[in-house]
Amino acid sequence: MKFLTSLTTTLLATAATASPLISRTSSSEAITTKKFHLKTTASDASAHNNLYVYAYHTGAGLNDAVLSANADDASKAFVNGTNVQFDLGTPFPWGVNMVGATNYGAWQPVQINTGYGTSGFELDNAHLKWSEQNGFGGWLVCDWVHNAPQLFYLYEPIKADVPSSCSKVELQAVYL
Ligand SMILES: *[C@@H]1O[C@H](CO)[C@@H](O)[C@H](O)[C@H]1NC(C)=O
Repeated sequence: MKFLTSLTTTLLATAATASPLISRTSSSEAITTKKFHLKTTASDASAHNNLYVYAYHTGAGLNDAVLSANADDASKAFVNGTNVQFDLGTPFPWGVNMVGATNYGAWQPVQINTGYGTSGFELDNAHLKWSEQNGFGGWLVCDWVHNAPQLFYLYEPIKADVPSSCSKVELQAVYL
């Protein structure tokens, strides 16, 4: 995979220039265990800014990524390699699942389901991005079926006519 190859190259380049006192192992362990909330920013719709992602139960092992203005509702996330997982206080893992764009849709749901989720994420300056190779065209928030704003991602190859109840956002990691 092209994305992973360039990531590996970057990691190797970083390791080569890094201070010999900081080993790669200890820095990657720190990233894995650091918990954060995901908060919306940069929306044109003020009601879609400063909202926190939380896991909204929709079935056994399934959640939609829904948004709340109340930080107390926020679910705790962490990075594991190129996956993003959530700590929902269970002994088993929960991962961010980017629902596949197999229906010619211009945007697709984001779920938080049991397992390790979809790979290909990175935190770019504390802003969560998914790999462009997977068709990621940014994050979208829509006022949706749970009577609350909900998180989607734009599938770049199919240009979206974004409805007025939706707006593009960025997702910022707010470390705990
Ligand atoms: C990170 O992901 C790997 C699988 O890729 C898994 O074995 C490991 O348990 C995960 N770590 C955590 C803290 O869930």
